[in-house]
Amino acid sequence: MRLASIVGARPQFIKLAAVSAAIRQYHEELIIHTGQHYDYNMSAQFFAELAIPAPDYHLEVGSGTHGAQTARMLEAIEQVLMRERPDWVVVYGDTNSTLAGALSAAKLHIPIAHVEAGLRSFNRAMPEEINRVVTDHLSQRLFCPTEAAQRQANSEGILQGVEVVGDVMYDVLLHVRPRIDAHAHTLLPRLGVTPHNYVLATVHRAANTDDPAAMRSIAHALNKLEMPVIFPVHPRTRSVLEQYGITLQSHVQCIEPVGFTAMLALEANAHRILTDSGGVQKEAFLLAVPCVTLREETEWRETVEAGWNVLVGSRWEAILEAIALPRPDPSRQHPFGKGDAARRIALSWLNANATS
Ligand code: UD1
Ligand code: UDP
Repeated sequence: MRLASIVGARPQFIKLAAVSAAIRQYHEELIIHTGQHYDYNMSAQFFAELAIPAPDYHLEVGSGTHGAQTARMLEAIEQVLMRERPDWVVVYGDTNSTLAGALSAAKLHIPIAHVEAGLRSFNRAMPEEINRVVTDHLSQRLFCPTEAAQRQANSEGILQGVEVVGDVMYDVLLHVRPRIDAHAHTLLPRLGVTPHNYVLATVHRAANTDDPAAMRSIAHALNKLEMPVIFPVHPRTRSVLEQYGITLQSHVQCIEPVGFTAMLALEANAHRILTDSGGVQKEAFLLAVPCVTLREETEWRETVEAGWNVLVGSRWEAILEAIALPRPDPSRQHPFGKGDAARRIALSWLNANATS
């Protein structure tokens, strides 16, 4: 098979690291980078660190409003797909690059495989929710991270080609895990913190960054914390903090976005994690660090049901209360597979050929 992977944003590079390595054992792969993320620490550093093959095409669409950005991607991806005519297009997660990749392929009648299919927050105000729903309904193959995701796709009438493979980010976490301790050993002293004595924070979701009151309330919570806070700041958040004139106290260390091993090292050693990221909620759970999620809902509900994740929105009082909660019961199972999701994805095309 000749597969074209389409990616563009930070979490997609991490997913691609696992999937590309597995795909290339059995198939030919072409990588198309839309250029949605372009800063070195949001893009190229992940290719270098995770040994992801260089993109065959870099479309350099950059930032913009949802319509403008998606439109530029559609136009550029279509050109590449018409030229390359892959057998399948593979899209990842729920960003505008996912949506544009799926739409471009659908219009050219190229079948689509969606990695991380079937997730729902049930909040249509979230741009990612629109991207997920549309992509799932355009896809011929839906690779679900969990049983719940498969049930969701089925409940929307998608019955063919839906398969639970596990979570590809768990594959990458397992791959990187042996390097975390050594990394923490040098990184934590450099940041002046000790294990389990700091809070790790990330914020980038539109519902928080586009709302000055929400952003101020989150910043207020960070300022009130009695522990050091390590805050790798997404470029979107850095610009709104400046724009809204929000100042953070000196115990809140704003740092540039970090590489994946550094991020896992910071997560694994945190006392608590405060985030609105999808991937970080799940990693907190897998690394057994209690998570406080700055959202009203999540597509990773299993982490909440297991007691390791608390949804608080952006209210500072609720954030501080949740951070003070005791650690949950350590005995737990996780629903994210066995760390072989990427291999199962790659093999699915061989299995389909064998049975057809
Ligand atoms: C996007 C995804 C989101 C995902 C996140 C991962 C959509 C709708 N959103 O959100 O689902 O969780 O990526 O991080 O696709 N910027 C830079 N440099 C960069 C990238 C972005 O400065 O390399 C700034 C620009 O000002 C840009 C803003 O960040 O306008 C937002 O970037 P964008 O890719 O549109 O959305 P994210 O918030 O990153
Ligand atoms: N991440 C990282 N460096 C950072 C912040 C996040 O490597 O400074 C990783 C994080 O560990 C997770 C992924 O990026 O694997 C999550 O991406 P993000 O929060 O940007 O997007 P989301 O998962 O919310 O779509």
